[in-house]
Amino acid sequence: MGNRIVYAKELAPKTRLLEVEADHIAKRGQAGQFIILRVNDEGERIPLTIANRNPDKGTITLVYQEVGKTTEMLSQLDVGDEIHDLAGPLGKATEIPTGKTVCCVGGGIGNAVVWPQVQALKESGNRVIAILGARTKELLILEEEIMSLADVTITTTDDGSYGRKGMVTHALEDLIDEGEKIDEVITIGPVVMMKFVCRTTEPHGIPTQASLNPIMVDGTGMCGACRVTVGGETRFACVEGPEFDGHQVDFDELITRLAYYQPEERAASDAYHRCRMEEAADKATAEHLGTDR
Ligand SMILES: Cc1cc2nc3c(=O)[nH]c(=O)nc-3n(C[C@H](O)[C@H](O)[C@H](O)COP(=O)(O)OP(=O)(O)OC[C@H]3O[C@@H](n4cnc5c(N)ncnc54)[C@H](O)[C@@H]3O)c2cc1C
Ligand code: FES
Repeated sequence: MGNRIVYAKELAPKTRLLEVEADHIAKRGQAGQFIILRVNDEGERIPLTIANRNPDKGTITLVYQEVGKTTEMLSQLDVGDEIHDLAGPLGKATEIPTGKTVCCVGGGIGNAVVWPQVQALKESGNRVIAILGARTKELLILEEEIMSLADVTITTTDDGSYGRKGMVTHALEDLIDEGEKIDEVITIGPVVMMKFVCRTTEPHGIPTQASLNPIMVDGTGMCGACRVTVGGETRFACVEGPEFDGHQVDFDELITRLAYYQPEERAASDAYHRCRMEEAADKATAEHLGTDR
């Protein structure tokens, strides 16, 4: 039996929230952990963060951005449909300090990962500053949810259509320059953004955790697909991460590795679109023949 979708909502163009039945994961998952799902029995496995959990209802919340074949297939599912399988909780939970000032810096879909982090940090008695970035206002997600938990929320958009104009790194830099005492930074978002957040904090000696997003396959440390270099050593993000000391991460290598499979991903996506167009054409023909008869 698969995992039934009980609620679905579009948060922004091509960005969707799904609440899914997954009792075991709902009871055990912690901030920072993720699941690996397959939409159907022949589908590839993709990792998605556990954005929220409801242990009483036995459900978890996933927030995903449509970027390729599997996430497009996920968008074809609706309330009542089932995801073929979900494995988790996977990865190490975030190490949550107590009594500190922690700044969570999220960008784009990364805000879905910031959300459980802010919740866990507040529950452990930390002061939380959230810096949330998006390219434009309409792409900004989960601001209300995070704002209701964090002590301070600063929103930035690249084009200035909402909040402060500019990058999340500018807002972070200003906070540091203004003398805000930040004990720790957690950053989650596009790899380039995380690289520059780490470059911002490094000269100030602020410990910074980056949540890495390499390609993953088995999620068990066996296949080696998710390898990343941290402090000159090979680490497996699925079992040793996904969070690592951002000042030690080789971000340029991660960017190169994420681009490795682009031709295959494009081919898979094109084939999927062709297949859906053929299906639609067959259906239209069948309907047409049906009405003509
Ligand atoms: C631990 C972890 C947690 C994640 N949590 C979330 C989440 O909560 N929400 C969410 O939307 N995404 C999340 N991701 C990224 C998500 O797994 C990818 O977007 C997904 O695998 C893309 O699959 P696809 O078949 O739709 O696209 P594909 O056709 O496989 O890829 C399309 C494009 O997406 C990018 N991409 C592919 N795989 C990844 C990847 N693993 N990470 C980043 N970019 C990728 C590449 O640029 C690629 O060209 C997470 C990744 C990891 C490793
Ligand atoms: S996904 Fe296979 S080793 Fe991590």
